[in-house]
This record gives sequence, structure tokens and C-alpha cells, in this order.
Amino acid sequence: MPAEGVVTDATAAVELVGESALDVAAPTATDEVVVLDYGGQYSQLIARRVRECGVFSELLPHHVGAEEVARRKPKGLILSGGPASVYADGAPRLDKALLELGIPVLGICYGMQLLAVSLGGKVEGAEVGEFGRSELHVSEHGRLLAGLPSEQTCWMSHRDTVFEPPAGTMALASSTASPVAAFESVEKGLYGIQFHPEVVHTPYGQDVLKRFLVDVCACETTWSPASIVEEQIERIRAQVGDGKVICGLSGGVDSSVAALLVHRAIGDQLTCVFVDHGLMRKNEGAQVVETFRDHFKVPLVPVDAEERFLDKLAGVTDPETKRKAIGAEFIRVFEEEAARLGDAKYLVQGTLYSDVIESGGGTGASTIKSHHNVGGLPEDLQFELVEPLRALFKDEVRAVGAELGLPERMVWRQPFPGPGLAIRIVGGEATKARLDLLRDADAILQDEIRKAGLYRELWQSFCVLPDIRTVGVQGDERTYGYVVVIRAVTSDDAMTADWARLPYDLLEQIAARMIGELREVNRVVLDITSKPPGTIEWE
Ligand code: XMP
Repeated sequence: MPAEGVVTDATAAVELVGESALDVAAPTATDEVVVLDYGGQYSQLIARRVRECGVFSELLPHHVGAEEVARRKPKGLILSGGPASVYADGAPRLDKALLELGIPVLGICYGMQLLAVSLGGKVEGAEVGEFGRSELHVSEHGRLLAGLPSEQTCWMSHRDTVFEPPAGTMALASSTASPVAAFESVEKGLYGIQFHPEVVHTPYGQDVLKRFLVDVCACETTWSPASIVEEQIERIRAQVGDGKVICGLSGGVDSSVAALLVHRAIGDQLTCVFVDHGLMRKNEGAQVVETFRDHFKVPLVPVDAEERFLDKLAGVTDPETKRKAIGAEFIRVFEEEAARLGDAKYLVQGTLYSDVIESGGGTGASTIKSHHNVGGLPEDLQFELVEPLRALFKDEVRAVGAELGLPERMVWRQPFPGPGLAIRIVGGEATKARLDLLRDADAILQDEIRKAGLYRELWQSFCVLPDIRTVGVQGDERTYGYVVVIRAVTSDDAMTADWARLPYDLLEQIAARMIGELREVNRVVLDITSKPPGTIEWE
């Protein structure tokens, strides 16, 4: 699914040079734990929670093999949950070589059941599954649950259940529908929990993870997003030497943080190109120039390409044609600027860890869904990639941005689509006049949402301008004006989204300002569709 890097940062389907798709340049000075992904919906979250404990983690597909795991010299291994039944045909199996690595293993949900069946425990399909909140009764605290309450709430999501722990391990806890909800053998380094410690509905979940990481695996908790900065700077220097580097800056947080890191490393060997296609939000282009060129003194080539893009959009009403026209023109402009710079050999990309995971599985290429690749660069650009954010999740990139001094406004910028406001003028042509109107309406919306303190809570908030007019009455006169749609959603990843319940008073204030300040607008409506069935954007 599209992380913001995909949405805004010209992340493209470019061949990686000399790297496996899974490699992320892990930090060398801090401890690491590997999470093997058996397909559970929370697998990424487990990896993030481990990092929140101060231990670097990588999420690898379950089939990578023990060698690939060992290469990372992890201090522990976590087997994630997954949707399969351990008895189903084709269900992922446990590679026993993983148990020979000499590091502690924690199985969560499906991971626990895998450990149990592989080592002679008893796992069976229970009559009733256990989904949602459940009560955990701890009978033996052991090492994993030491110091935690004997009665606690936890989050469950399983049908198969462990009835007997594997030989040589001790049952620690049961739950409403699980005779064995946790087991361990300190000697064998085996730990299993049926519940999900990574979700917030398990209040002591983070404590359980910490027990595993610190008390069991003896990890030092020294990793933080900011701790990657110095090491990345060294790596970037080693990679590019005295070569010239180019970066397409969009103003989104991923390309901004990537550019700043690279600039810290190699200074003026980096040139950023900012293509202003005239489809940005109000003052956004000026902010990028001010922040990077004037404040951070990053060599920046701002390209005012508004006219070129508007020419290409003239007469175009179909959404996909708009996207294609914008994408093609973007590439043309970027290539022209790259050619002007002459001999740049390296290209900075704001690829994030979620992109790596998605494209992973060892295909050797980082590919992005074509729908979201608009505003990206073509596959045949002959650059070697510099991807300093490959190991980081989105929230960690924001932390690095803050560490590097990126203004709060840019650190917390909501995702913005590559084709910009052009795909928010719906059912009609994106003309300069309409874009200006939409920009003004959007500026009012953002202003009010920020004043209400809601900007960060919303995944995206924006206006849509359909090409329709409606009748109104203002100052005793009949009017025939545009209708502006307010779209605000909450989401974790843009795959699904819920319409945001903005307060009525706020909505009234936004509508009053739009109609009062924008002559052409006489009606404001609110989109109350979630995704699915709707999409976030209107076209
Ligand atoms: P939808 O509308 O599909 O959007 O629910 C999901 C996320 O993707 C963004 N989006 C785009 N980003 N080029 C982009 O770079 C596009 O053509 C595009 N279309 C949608 C959208 O803003 C949301 O974050």
C-alpha cells in the first residue's frame, strides 16, 4: 500500500544496483532481532514495537531460510502470527534449522502453534475460536511474564489452540478459551504466546516484548531512529565518494528527510531538483525553496513548470489521462534538469521500509504500484540509487526529520498525491482559474483544521472541486456558484480509511469562511464515505 514516499516522493520502479531487495543497511552498532512474517496482519507492527523498545528489527518473509537470518547476527527471533491453520495443506512450516541458530525464539499466535506442533506439543482446532479481548490467567510467571500481573487482559485472534506445550517446556498461562496461552523453556530458549503483545488492546504487551528482548535475549536497548543518522552519513559517503548526486524533491517528508541526510553527508555534491508543476497547495512551492535553499543551504534547482503542465492538461477531463499527462511531463522536466547538471551518477530516493517489505520476497527490484507511480521516474534512468531511509518506518522517518531540524510543518505533512490538485478538480478540466480557487478553499480548510489542533490526527484532509455549479442566494441575489467538497479521513496506511468525524462547529466555520471569502463558492458539502467502498481521492 502506498506510504507517503510512494505518494509524493517520486519513488519509482528503478532497478536496485548490487543489492538484494531485502537488504536495508542495518545499523552495526546496535542489537537486532529478526521477525519472521508468517502472513499475520500485525507482522509489521511487531517489528515496529520491537524498535520502540530500542532494539533494531527486520521483518523477513518466513521462507528466507536460516542462513539469511543468521547473516544478520540477530540476538533473538520472533515468529509472527498468520492466517493459516498449522494443519492446513500448504501452511507455512517451521524450518527446524532456525532452532539451531543458538538464539532465543518467541512464537506469537501462529508462531507459537508452529513451535508447539514442531516440537511435539498438542495443537487442535477448538470448537470456539477466540477473537478479540480475552482474560489471561498467569499460573507461572517464568522469565517471560516475570513481574506482570497474574490476571490481565489480552488480545486474541485464533481458532487452533495449544492444548499441551511441547516437551520440556512449561505452561505459563491460560485464557478464556486457550488451555495454554503461554509457555517457555529458558533452557531451550523457546517461548510462545497465543495473544498479540503488539496491539494496544494487550495493555502489558509491550512489557512482554521487553522481557523477551532484554531479559531473555540480553539485547541492549540503544537503537533509536536518530541513532541511524551518523551511520547513514558514513555509508552515503562511502557509497558516492566524490560523485555527483541528484534528488527530486517534492516537499513530502520522505524526499525531504532523504535529501537532508544526503546533504549532511556530502554537502554540495548534492543537487536537489524541485519541479513545481503548479498543482501544489498554496505557498507549498515557496516553502520548499525557503526551507531547503535559504535555510538549509542545499543546492536547489526550482523549476517553475506551471505553464508546461497546464498546457498538457488543457482540455483533459479523464482522470487517468490527467495522471498520464502529468507523469510524462514530470519525467521530461526532470530529465532536462538532470541533463543540465551533466554528470550526476547517483539518484536519491525516499524509499521506506514498508516499500522494501512490500516489494520484498527477493525479486531483486523495488517496484511500486503503477497507479501510485505518477510523478515518479522511469525505469530506465541510468542512476545508482542512494536510499538512506530503506530501514525506516514512516514514523521513524519523521523522528529523523525532526532530529535534522526539518520544520514541524514538513515533518508532519499529510500525504499529497503526485498529480496534485489536478486530480481534485473532478469531472472537468484543471484550468489555472479552478486550480487557484481550489488552492484557496484548501488553504482555508488547512488553516481551520490546524487551528483546531486536528491536522496530525487526520491521515489526509483536503478539498475537492467538482465541475458543477449550484444555485444559491446571497445578499438577496440569486447566485450560481461552485460547490466545494470537504474530504477528511483517518487511516493507518491508506488501504482502508474512515471519514473523520470533524466537529460541527468546525465544519460551520470552514463553510462560512469558504463562502464568505471565495466569491465563486456558494455551497460546501462533506464527504462521509469510508474506504472501502469509496477511495480517498475522488478520481
Ligand atoms: P485512493 O484514492 O486510491 O488513495 O484511496 C490512496 C492514497 O494514494 C494517494 N493517491 C495518489 N498518489 N499519485 C500519487 O502519487 C496518484 O495518482 C494518486 N492517487 C491517489 C491518495 O492521496 C491516498 O493517499
